[in-house]
Amino acid sequence: MAVATHETVAVNHFVSKPVNPPCAIVIFGGAGALSHRKLLPALYNLSLDGDLPEHCPIVAFSMEDLDDESYRALARDAVEKFSRRPLEAAAWAKFGPRIHYVRGRFTERGDYDGLRERLEEIDHAYASGGNHIYYFAIPPSFIESCAAMLHEAGMIRPPDGEEHFTRVVVEKPIGYDLASATAINDRIALNFDESQIFRIDHYLGKETVENLMVLRFANAIFEPLWTSRSVDHVQLTVAEDEGVGTRAPYYEQAGALRDMVQSHILSVLSIIAMEPPRSTRARAVRDSKLDVLRSIRRFSDEDIEKFAVRGQYSAGLVAGAAVPAYRQEAAVAPDSRTETFVAMRCWIDNWRWAGVPFYIRTGKRMPKRASEIAIYFKAVPRILYNSNPRAQLAPNMLTIRIQPDEGLSVHIISKVPGAQVRLQQVAVDFHYTTTTPEAYETLLRDVIHGDQTLFMRRDAVEASWSLVDPIIGAWAESPADPPLYAAGSWGPIEAALMMAADGRAWRAL
Ligand code: BG6
Repeated sequence: MAVATHETVAVNHFVSKPVNPPCAIVIFGGAGALSHRKLLPALYNLSLDGDLPEHCPIVAFSMEDLDDESYRALARDAVEKFSRRPLEAAAWAKFGPRIHYVRGRFTERGDYDGLRERLEEIDHAYASGGNHIYYFAIPPSFIESCAAMLHEAGMIRPPDGEEHFTRVVVEKPIGYDLASATAINDRIALNFDESQIFRIDHYLGKETVENLMVLRFANAIFEPLWTSRSVDHVQLTVAEDEGVGTRAPYYEQAGALRDMVQSHILSVLSIIAMEPPRSTRARAVRDSKLDVLRSIRRFSDEDIEKFAVRGQYSAGLVAGAAVPAYRQEAAVAPDSRTETFVAMRCWIDNWRWAGVPFYIRTGKRMPKRASEIAIYFKAVPRILYNSNPRAQLAPNMLTIRIQPDEGLSVHIISKVPGAQVRLQQVAVDFHYTTTTPEAYETLLRDVIHGDQTLFMRRDAVEASWSLVDPIIGAWAESPADPPLYAAGSWGPIEAALMMAADGRAWRAL
C-alpha cells in the first residue's frame, strides 16, 4: 500500500558545474541502428536542454550512399520516432544544420584522409577547437581497424595535449570472454590512452542507477544499515518482456550471461555493494567498484551446478499475446542452446558483506519489463509484535526501481488504524514526477565533459569477464540443454528451487 508520494523539498544541490568545451562528435556507423534509436535522439535532447556545446558539429561517418541533406532527413526521422520529447520545429532548426555526413568504409585507409579533410573544414567553420570525440557505433570486429586508421591518418592527439583532446567511445560487447576482451583492450590501447577511452555500459547512465550512490552516501540513514549486520540478502532483477527481436545474429553468440550479467548486472551490483569512495572523482569511484568485482567469490564447478541457473524461453503468452519459442525466432538455430535467462547466487567476500547472499536474475520474455533492486533487512526478533510463530512479520525492505516507474519504496510495518492492534506492511514511496533523461544523454554529456566516472575501466571489464568465464565454460561443455521456461513466466523452476533451498523466494514484481 502506498502511503506517501514525494514532493521535492530541498533545492537542487549542484556538486559541480562543468564547462562545455567546443568539440566535434564523429559517429562511426552514423547510419546504423544505435545512432538512429539512441545517439541522435540523445544529442537532440541535449541540445534542447542547452547541454550541447555552442560549437559542436556532429559528423556521421558510414558506408551508405548519403549526403548532408539525406542524412539530416534520417536524423529527423530518428528524433521523431525515438526522442523522449517531441521534435520542436524551432529546436530542430538549430540542431539539424549541425549534422554532417561523410561517406566512407571503416577499413579503407584512404577514406580516413577524406574524413580528416572534411573534419578540418568543419572544425574551422564551427570553431570547434580541433577537439574530437570518436563514437564507435560499429560492430566489434571493426574497432581495431578504425582505431589503427585514425592513428595512421594522424587524427588522434596525445592524451596530455594541452590544446586539443581526442576521446573514443566504445560500445559493448567488449569481447565474448576474458581472452577476447583483453585482446580488444590491448588493441585499443595501441592507439588510445586509457584516459581517452570511454567504454559504455548504458545502465550506468540510467538516472536511478546514478541515484544509487547519492542515496547511499548523501543520506545518513542508509549507510549504517548497509552491512551484513542489518541486511539479510539482496535481490537484483532485470526482467524484459521482449524476446530476442531482430538481434539473433548477435544474441546467439552472446546469451544472457554475456549480454546482461557480465556488463549491466555486475556494474549495478558493484555500486550497490561498494565501499564509500574517498571522493566522487572518477578514479576513486571506479577503484571502489573494482574492489567489489574482485571480492565476488569465484564460482567452483559445484557452485555453478547449484547456484548458476540458466534457462531458455519456450512459446507462451506475454501480456495476453502468444509469442514463439526462442528456437523459433528468426535467425535462431532450431537446436540453439543459448540461454535467455540467468539466475545466480553471489557472495562478496569482504567484511561488509560476509554471509549476505546477492541473488541476481535476468531474462527475456518475462511477464513484464521490470528492473529492481530489493534490499531485504533482517527479521525483527521473535518477541513483542513478532512473537506469533504462525504469523511472522514481513521484514523491512528497501526496493529501488531502476525502470519503469523509477523510484524507491521503504517497506515498513505499521498499525492498522482501529481499536485492535493489527499490523500491516506499508510502503513509503518515492516516484520521480518528471521524465528522467535517457542514459545516452547523461553518458554523452559526460564524454563531452571528459568525466569517466560512469564508464567501464579496463580492469573492471576484465574482472567481470574473469568472474563469468568459468560459468561460460561449464555451460558450453555441459551435455544438457538449458531448462525451458514458458514465455511470460519468471524463468525455469530451477531458479525458484535455488532460492527455496536457501529458505527464500524471489520477490513478486
Ligand atoms: C542491451 C542488451 O545492452 O541492454 C539487450 O544487449 C537488452 O539485450 C538491453 O535488451 C536492455 O536495455 P534497457 O535499457 O532496455 O533495459
